[in-house]
Amino acid sequence: MRMKKTPILVAGIASAGLLLGACSGGGSSDGGDGSGSTMRLALNQTEEHPSYIALDNFGQALEESTDGRWGIDVFPNETLGAQAEALQLVSDGSVDMAVVSGAQLENLNADFTAYNLPKVFTDIDHQMQVINNPGELTSELFASLEESNNLTVIGGLTQGSRSVYTTFGAVESPADLAGKKMRVQESDLNVAIAEALGAAATPMAYGELYTGLQSGVVDAAENNEVSYFTQKHFEVAPYFSYTNHVVGLDYVIINTDKLESMTDEDRAAFDEGWAAAWAEHTELWTQATQDAIDGATAGGATFTEVDDAAFSDALAAVAEEFIKTDNQQALYDNAREGQ
Ligand code: GCU
Repeated sequence: MRMKKTPILVAGIASAGLLLGACSGGGSSDGGDGSGSTMRLALNQTEEHPSYIALDNFGQALEESTDGRWGIDVFPNETLGAQAEALQLVSDGSVDMAVVSGAQLENLNADFTAYNLPKVFTDIDHQMQVINNPGELTSELFASLEESNNLTVIGGLTQGSRSVYTTFGAVESPADLAGKKMRVQESDLNVAIAEALGAAATPMAYGELYTGLQSGVVDAAENNEVSYFTQKHFEVAPYFSYTNHVVGLDYVIINTDKLESMTDEDRAAFDEGWAAAWAEHTELWTQATQDAIDGATAGGATFTEVDDAAFSDALAAVAEEFIKTDNQQALYDNAREGQ
């Protein structure tokens, strides 16, 4: 039996709530009795992003395989709220599913931190092996928010390798970021990573970043090439420097009651659809990365290498600092071994 959920406190719920009220009274069309519904999924990416494409295809496949009982409507561009809000909305059931970055889940259960550390995953294939063929520890982690928050993690989508980009020039070593403000995702670990890279951290929602860079509220950010291009950040921060400080991870989350309302047959169709979705996403990622580099270069951006050695000690120290419990250590060690 799950216990009563604890509310998550986030800012900006009111505006998202108004929007939902206008859509459909805040809930899905039906559900809770196995009869199914078209689930709404909150995403903060554009319709060109591999996450939109793969999850939209997931929704259509699910509709077919369940004879229309279940489907997924993907709402892109933060239309259902930025990730911190989407997390709350999925928890309370007013939105069914969302893509949230690992950073958001760290704030609910610090064990998620283990999978967001520099060097935990060497590359995308390693990361997808650990996350989407989950061993016992990973499965426990994915179920860890069910009692407390009514959220289930179904698996992950890669964010590829994240690097720094700036408004002011290429970065070779941490000294180039001294005194500069870098936008980070909203978690303590991300603040520490920015500091290890040499900058001062400014936590901010993804959708605010273009304006943040343009207006000079921040001088730098860090992300993968796909986000850099699809969010058009290259227009205002044309210097991309390959710090490759972390292989980032997005999670797909679903309201636990909603998931549990599926019949066994529909749940099997859902699981099958998800397996195809993350595989398609991983496949699309390589091409999307190349297209992003080409597109941003054509738009005036430059991509340069950094002095890796100048960053590595500080980044390794972050990993040590953030592993505080035996379970975090076990998750980190197992992941590094590919489990
Ligand atoms: C990536 C990631 C998003 C995340 C974003 C960010 O684009 O896929 O889930 O929100 O980075 O930096 O906020």
